Amino acid sequence: MSDAKIIDGKATALSLRARVAEQAQAFADAAGRLPGLAVVLVGEDPASAVYVRAKERASAEAHIGGTVHRLPATTTQEELLALVRALNADTTVDGILVQLPLPPQIDAHAIIAAIDPEKDVDGFHPINAGRLASGLPGFVPCTPLGCLMLLKDYHDHLAGLEAVVVGRSNIVGKPMAQLLLAESCTVTIAHSRTRDLFGAVRRSDIVIAAVGVPELIRGDWIKPGATVIDVGINRVTLPDGKTKLIGDVAYDEAIEVAGAITPVPGGVGPMTIAVLLRNTLVAAHRKTG
Ligand code: GUN
Repeated sequence: MSDAKIIDGKATALSLRARVAEQAQAFADAAGRLPGLAVVLVGEDPASAVYVRAKERASAEAHIGGTVHRLPATTTQEELLALVRALNADTTVDGILVQLPLPPQIDAHAIIAAIDPEKDVDGFHPINAGRLASGLPGFVPCTPLGCLMLLKDYHDHLAGLEAVVVGRSNIVGKPMAQLLLAESCTVTIAHSRTRDLFGAVRRSDIVIAAVGVPELIRGDWIKPGATVIDVGINRVTLPDGKTKLIGDVAYDEAIEVAGAITPVPGGVGPMTIAVLLRNTLVAAHRKTG
């Protein structure tokens, strides 16, 4: 029998959403309008459509005024830039999120760079990435900030712990490593070219898995008692034809060894949207405060 604690991201996310809802209502009472989040969805990517609908629902529940701009897959770079510029200029829009991935004719870097950094609730703008790396206040990407909140629920002190971040994306891996470094962890960033991934995981008190490879990290790689945060959301097809969501960590194995672990689903996933709502509220306050 394992005695690993299962980190309940759903519960933490619900309580964060409730706090945001209360504060967003207070903002609306004072400012005469709801905090505003503009979400831009280009094309028909089915996973993106699901995420955007979830963001729409959660915004409404949290008293965030969400507007979704749905554009066809044939949208040009100039058309999307024109929309981003209009949203930058709209004083009722506090936060702007352009859902990724974008269609191939569009340069995602150029679009992100066009977003006003003060409205960049995704924290993807190079200015905000630079602020995070420099230890300055700014917007932090939602998924890694959600992971840090879950870690802090479980650890009073992160300083001095060995942490490995498996994955080096701009959305999760790199900002996650910066956040852990700011908490004075000893951080290893591992990726597809890492020679000794097993060794890097095995020595770590904290494992953040964000590679998108189903069950890459096995239970016997985990240091006994370590905290495992699984960012992976992989849809796999079972022999009976049904599909199932699984993480980047072999959960049934890891739970026997870890001290604490996030499930998939119900771990990191719900935190991402909750932090997005929180970032939007922060943006609204910064603009008017
Ligand atoms: N696509 C996958 N994750 C994200 C995210 O956090 N923000 C945006 N904008 N697009 C995504």
